[in-house]
Amino acid sequence: MVLPPAGILPIDLDWDAVDDLTRTYTLGVPEIDRQHRMLFAWCVALRKRPGQQVAEGLLAYAAGHFADEEAWAADRGIDITQHQFRHNELLARLEPLQNGVGRTTVAALVYDWLIRHIDVEDRALVARNRTA
Ligand SMILES: [Fe+2]
Repeated sequence: MVLPPAGILPIDLDWDAVDDLTRTYTLGVPEIDRQHRMLFAWCVALRKRPGQQVAEGLLAYAAGHFADEEAWAADRGIDITQHQFRHNELLARLEPLQNGVGRTTVAALVYDWLIRHIDVEDRALVARNRTA
């Protein structure tokens, strides 16, 4: 896996909240869990500061991570058509944040969508690898 762009996270980021999420939503695949930790970091940053800079950082990181995750699954012969569709939907949902439209509401939704995606859809993806 190639590491997605790191971006510049806020210096006062609540890493305890990030690590709580990482522990709660661990999938047991180290390379994916490591990237999810960074995705959680961007989510926590976004909730606190839902501006253009954080939205762009999250978008760049999420796009790189999604591509890596899709490659990971494809390498294992898992059909990723539906999962890829969900990733593209999530990226589209980030766009209003960059334009400053309803930032706080969209940030809260993106936070929930991404965490739900990891907990439900990514967990199912990883399980398909174990049963393949
Ligand atoms: Fe995913």
